[in-house]
Amino acid sequence: MKKFNVFIARKIPEAGIELLRKSGFNVEINDSEDRVLSKKQLIKKIKDKDALLSLLTDNIDKEVIEPNPKLKIISNYAVGFDNIDVKIATKRGIIVTNTPDVLTETVAEHTIALMLAAARRIVEADKFTRQGKYKAWSPFLFLGQDLKGKTLGILGLGRIGYEVAKRAAKGMEMKIIYNTRHRDKKFEGEYRARFADLPILLKESDFISIHLPLTPETKHMISKKEFNIMKKTAILINTARGPIVDEKALIYALKNKKIFAAALDVFECEPEITCDFNSPIKLKDLNNTILTPHIASATIDTRIKMAVVAAKSIIDIANGRIPENIVNKDVKIRVN
Ligand code: GLV
Ligand code: GLV
Repeated sequence: MKKFNVFIARKIPEAGIELLRKSGFNVEINDSEDRVLSKKQLIKKIKDKDALLSLLTDNIDKEVIEPNPKLKIISNYAVGFDNIDVKIATKRGIIVTNTPDVLTETVAEHTIALMLAAARRIVEADKFTRQGKYKAWSPFLFLGQDLKGKTLGILGLGRIGYEVAKRAAKGMEMKIIYNTRHRDKKFEGEYRARFADLPILLKESDFISIHLPLTPETKHMISKKEFNIMKKTAILINTARGPIVDEKALIYALKNKKIFAAALDVFECEPEITCDFNSPIKLKDLNNTILTPHIASATIDTRIKMAVVAAKSIIDIANGRIPENIVNKDVKIRVN
């Protein structure tokens, strides 16, 4: 096995770091402060490194990749990899890996939590209660929406979309419609799901949950036109990537009650919650939003598993093995 020089761009659970150290690698971690490195710092840090264990907050573009000819693998601590210029990496013979599977159910559970929280106005009601506003039971206090019998529209039937559909169909007794690149007849049979074109899905869904990767095709896929098709009672859930939803159009739809609510774990200009600092209305000013800080995969167990999977990909490359989760399968693997 080659003795790799590894840079970890942010502190991650110890299990992953341990694995790398036990392999005899020289491991350097950005743990000076728990924050994202600047591009300049990152370029400097990965000089002469064989492997980079990156976070979704690291923007790994041409400027980062090209000055580092020794780099052989970028192991991204996330299932999404829109933060990496995979094309350039592939051209340079650098393998890019991600951490799917281990976080699938965890993200699905957070999605269901957001659905329930938005439907039953949990956050708003909690705030109300804490503020001492609960004076008497009332027939009209915080009326929300049922899930049972309602239609959930799944955008993107990947692993996560599948697990959300399964929980919604079997657990909440919801009807499922979905839109995805490859129709899945077995899924349709198992969950009585119906495939639909996007406009039909938007028109018929009571809940719409996004499970797509961010690509040039999916950017702003949900914008003004799409909100106009949705039901006034619709609830939008996004645990995928912020820019898939046009934030300006979303704010307009929420403010003008074109939809009932949105529950968001991701934001267009993350970590900013609303892109435009001067926007007269921000997502956090609206009562019909639920906002969580990109934590859909954040359970103790899953984050440990992600660290182990990300570390193993690096160890595989050092051993001349093909890692399990290669994103750029067309890459010509370099050994030196
Ligand atoms: C989180 O957003 C991930 O892609 O893992
Ligand atoms: C995407 O990779 C997913 O698991 O849904």
